[in-house]
Amino acid sequence: MGETIIPLADLRYAAELPRIPERVVPPDGLLSDRLGRPLRDLRISVTDRCNFRCSYCMPKEVFDSRYRFLPHDALLTFEEITRVSRLFVEHGVRKLRLTGGEPLLRKGLETLVGMLSALRAPDGEAIDITLTTNGSLLGRKAASLRAAGLRRVTVSLDALDDAVFRRMNDVDFPVADVLRGIDAALAAGLAPLKVNMVVKRGTNDHEIVPLARHVREHYGPSVILRFIEFMDVGATNGWRMDEVLPSADVIDRVNAAFPLEPLEPTAPGETAERWRYRDGRGEVGFISSVTRAFCRDCNRARLSTEGKLFLCLFASRGHDLRALLRGRRDGRPYTDEEVAAAIGLIWSERDDRYSELRGRDAAEPGSGERRIEMHYIGG
Ligand code: GTP
Ligand code: 5AD
Ligand code: SF4
Ligand code: SF4
Repeated sequence: MGETIIPLADLRYAAELPRIPERVVPPDGLLSDRLGRPLRDLRISVTDRCNFRCSYCMPKEVFDSRYRFLPHDALLTFEEITRVSRLFVEHGVRKLRLTGGEPLLRKGLETLVGMLSALRAPDGEAIDITLTTNGSLLGRKAASLRAAGLRRVTVSLDALDDAVFRRMNDVDFPVADVLRGIDAALAAGLAPLKVNMVVKRGTNDHEIVPLARHVREHYGPSVILRFIEFMDVGATNGWRMDEVLPSADVIDRVNAAFPLEPLEPTAPGETAERWRYRDGRGEVGFISSVTRAFCRDCNRARLSTEGKLFLCLFASRGHDLRALLRGRRDGRPYTDEEVAAAIGLIWSERDDRYSELRGRDAAEPGSGERRIEMHYIGG
């Protein structure tokens, strides 16, 4: 007998083995966690790799040629992802977001989009399927993704100026290619398209107004620009409070250039505060997870590339759903009912609200535990 080799991937972050409740009851869509929050949004990371090295997410010094990404057999297959998604939909999920790393690096992603877009809520409604991308491959893939059933996309874009953009992605990627990707997505009918800009004070905050101007003038209301506060997610991005530009200041700067008025929230638990230009040129959003936490209605669950379920972006422990998908009980695979019941139990015990607790002891991971990284769990 050879020694047992535990793959690195399984040691990456602590994970619990999900429990199957004694009494297995079918999902009724009414699940709520300990703080009374429903489950509506599942974010699925399809790869932990990315062709960019944004310093706030995958700093080059850490994610270099020696970094060991997940091996292929650790990844959930498209069938496994679809099965899990179906069970989440039964529990009340109405939005599926594909993320990464960079999701368009996952081979055959269109096939997965096709499989997910066949899912229906119990009332027959289609599920909102979307994707967060850095836009580098969108020019090539937008049309096939749309044809497969993708409804809309969110593109990360941290600057309009080419030199600043190349510095932000840290792989010298030109901004023009991302702008072409956005055009291709709009031409394919992926709308409304959202553009996400992470703002780091002193690095790209001078790009706030130019980017707002560009989006207003070139796209109007078909593109919604959102400004995101630089977050203290993970453990490698060297986060410092003095590099956070509070959304209140970003609003002031945009408003001074292009007058704004606030909009009512559209969905409970939404991440962005919505505003619109008074001249009708469209909407902008502000995501303020540092200065105005939005945990109270957080209805988001996250599935990592290798099938661990995380209940918060700042969690350090996951729940190993893959162990159920691939494991056996009494010599047979786990049934859908059992896996769904395990998911229900996990959500019903959730009490995460990291951003609200930031800085207090309760927000710190246990000894020896590391917070998950954004490239691993997606945005
Ligand atoms: P839409 O349905 O397209 O509006 O999705 P969304 O508002 O959830 O936006 P998106 O997925 O683009 O998320 C935008 C950014 O908000 C992410 O990249 C993160 O930086 C941040 N974010 C999203 N969800 C959470 C969350 O649950 N907690 C915290 N702290 N930040 C989040
Ligand atoms: N702070 C805020 N947002 C982040 N993202 C990644 N890292 C951070 C961070 N430290 C988000 C960005 C990007 C998406 C993939 O994840 O919005 O567009
Ligand atoms: Fe940048 Fe997104 Fe890649 Fe992270 S996953 S390095 S934020 S492009
Ligand atoms: Fe949800 Fe955690 Fe983000 Fe709060 S910090 S909004 S609980 S993911």
